[in-house]
Amino acid sequence: MSKLFIKTFGCQMNEYDSSKMADVLKASHGYELTTDPEAADLLLLNTCSVREKAQEKVFSELGRWKEWKSAQPGRVIGVGGCVASQEGEALAKRARIVDLVFGPQTLHRLPELLEQARRTQRPAVDIRFPEIEKFDKLPEPRAEGPTAFVSIMEGCSKYCTFCIVPYTRGEEVSRPLDDVLAEIASLLEQGVREITLLGQNVNAYRGPMAGGGSCDLALLIHVLARFETLGRIRFTTSHPAEFGDALIETYATQPKLAGYLHLPVQSGSDRILGMMKRGYSRAQYLDKIRRLRQARPDLALSSDFIVGFPSESDEDFEQTMALIEEARFDSAYSFIYSPRPGTPAANLRDNVKVEVKQQRLERLQARIREFGAGFAQELVGSSQTVLVEKRGRHDGQLAGRTPCNRWLNFDGPDALIGRFVDVQVTEALTNSLRGRLAGTAAAGA
Ligand code: SAM
Ligand code: F3S
Repeated sequence: MSKLFIKTFGCQMNEYDSSKMADVLKASHGYELTTDPEAADLLLLNTCSVREKAQEKVFSELGRWKEWKSAQPGRVIGVGGCVASQEGEALAKRARIVDLVFGPQTLHRLPELLEQARRTQRPAVDIRFPEIEKFDKLPEPRAEGPTAFVSIMEGCSKYCTFCIVPYTRGEEVSRPLDDVLAEIASLLEQGVREITLLGQNVNAYRGPMAGGGSCDLALLIHVLARFETLGRIRFTTSHPAEFGDALIETYATQPKLAGYLHLPVQSGSDRILGMMKRGYSRAQYLDKIRRLRQARPDLALSSDFIVGFPSESDEDFEQTMALIEEARFDSAYSFIYSPRPGTPAANLRDNVKVEVKQQRLERLQARIREFGAGFAQELVGSSQTVLVEKRGRHDGQLAGRTPCNRWLNFDGPDALIGRFVDVQVTEALTNSLRGRLAGTAAAGA
């Protein structure tokens, strides 16, 4: 039987796409996934180009696979994702060991590309954006445990001046509502109890409806909540400019929506937000958060930050630090600005010193860590409803995530995997919580 090894870089969208690559190749060629590259005949790299480092990693990774490829005739290497989309043919020219190059929107064509490369003995390249065709061509989703990701839209049309995503993944396209519902119904039949709706800009979802009109994210959440066996709904990533009243209200009215929100702000300085073309001001962002917390007082917030954007002054950075104090983020992903070729910001003079960027990043991360540790400590003594996802690291231990997206480990029998249980939090550790089983719970966020 043919074996497939996939290495995934980057975001959850890429994780999702990788699992779809595995599904497609299993359906077409019977490929089984392996975690051991030595046992594999086909190796796929699903790449990320959001920052320069991520992109460089791809080429050094490919360098390491040279020997793997020559060790056995017939071994095939494919590169997908954003680096593939950006480089196209040039990738196969630069890394001669590559046989397949495909973009995030053409992964469903992997079987044909594989055949083409075998037939022609030349690299097969397809990095087009054939709209939403991908989803029509994918096999039935396969559940792997009680939680699942479902991509509801692709691409991004925001064109923030620093970001490569609209160029590598194409513009926003929403999947029709009926297709999304059919995928989720199939996952629920297979025992899934929690769904994370995915999109680069998931709150831009406008799914065409069979009878005309379109369904936005707020409506979709309400529709999904009617599925009795679906206990919890999450979504990521959303854009602040598009976070409308209906979606804010959903936090007040829909208990199945988890009390966690990732809402990237990038900077607390209006000057920098303007240069980034984010489409909101610091005050507008903070106002959305205030209203979200009115709707759901215990909402845990996470965010993304870029430090050292061209011309970011001490004053701009202090504005970001002040925003963190006001917003009280539970966690964050933060990055040093990385110029991306072809984006408008890449033409700006990058005049912030590397040491300054590094210091700012460290200061920001330290403050967020303090907030995170404080929130974790506040959870001690509380009862949290978790969906038991898997065994924990130690014998007899189970693990699930709280509504606020923290891992909680506790002792319990395997039979509870796939069920919602109430757990008393007893201890806050650096990256997770410990607790004691209190009882089984009705489904709910
Ligand atoms: N859709 C999301 C939003 O609303 O902002 C962001 C998706 S983006 C792929 C993920 C994160 O990568 C961004 O939020 C940003 O913080 C970071 N990022 C994107 N381009 C970057 C760059 N050129 N340099 C550093 N970080 C970058
Ligand atoms: Fe990138 Fe901005 Fe879209 S960060 S993914 S262009 S919202």
